[in-house]
Amino acid sequence: MRELLTTPAGYRLRPWAVTDVDAVLEAFAPPEMLRQSGGTPIDSPGAAGAWLRARRAAWDSGSGYSWAVVDPAGAVAGNVAVSSVDRRHDTGWVSYWTTHAARGRGVAGAATRAVADWALTDLGLFRLELGHRVDNPASCRVARRAGFAVEGLERAKLRYDGTRHDVELHARLAIDPA
Ligand SMILES: CC(C)(COP(=O)(O)OP(=O)(O)OC[C@H]1O[C@@H](n2cnc3c(N)ncnc32)[C@H](O)[C@@H]1OP(=O)(O)O)[C@@H](O)C(=O)NCCC(=O)NCCS
Repeated sequence: MRELLTTPAGYRLRPWAVTDVDAVLEAFAPPEMLRQSGGTPIDSPGAAGAWLRARRAAWDSGSGYSWAVVDPAGAVAGNVAVSSVDRRHDTGWVSYWTTHAARGRGVAGAATRAVADWALTDLGLFRLELGHRVDNPASCRVARRAGFAVEGLERAKLRYDGTRHDVELHARLAIDPA
C-alpha cells in the first residue's frame, strides 16, 4: 500500500509525522478551523501532538488514513483524510482542509482526488462519502473536482452556535467513470 502520493502540480501527500507539530499549530490557528478538529482546540504543542498521535493510531488500526499535503517547497498545505473506514461495507468518509496560505490554488481538489483514487485502489474501498454545508461552495467545488457526485440534501444535519445547517452529500464509487 503506497504511503506517498503526488498531484500533477507537484504536491506530495504523506502520512502525518510527529515532527509536524508546528505545521499543525499554524494550520489550526484560524478560528474557523475549530470545526475541523471536532470542536477540540489545537492551540498548544501538547494538543497538536495528541492530534498527530490520533492520526497515527487510526492509520495503524486501519480505521482512518490522514494525509499531510506538502507543497513543492516542503511546507504543509493541508490535510485530506479517509475516516470511518468500514470493512463490512468497504466504505469511508472523506474530509479535507487547506492552510490559509494554500487556498485558491486547486490544492484541495487535486489532493482529494489523489487520496480518493488511492482509497478506491490501494485500500480497496468501494464507496467514499463526504458532506459539506450548503453555504460552503468552495468545498462543493473540491468534491466535484475529486470526482464525487451529488447524492442529495441532508436537512438540518449540523448545529453550530445554535443554528442548524443543511448538508449536501456527495459520493464516489469504485465503479464510477474516471
Ligand atoms: C474548502 C477548502 C478545503 C478549499 O480549499 P482550496 O485549496 O482553496 O480549494 P481549491 O483551490 O482546490 O478549489 C476551490 C474551488 O472553490 C472555488 N471557490 C472558492 N471560494 C468560493 C466561493 N466563495 N464560492 C464559490 N466557489 C468558490 C474556487 O474557485 C475553486 O473552484 P475551481 O475548482 O472551479 O477552480 C478550504 O477553503 C478550507 O480548508 N476551508 C476550511 C475547511 C473546510 O471548509 N473544509 C471542508 C469541510 S466540508
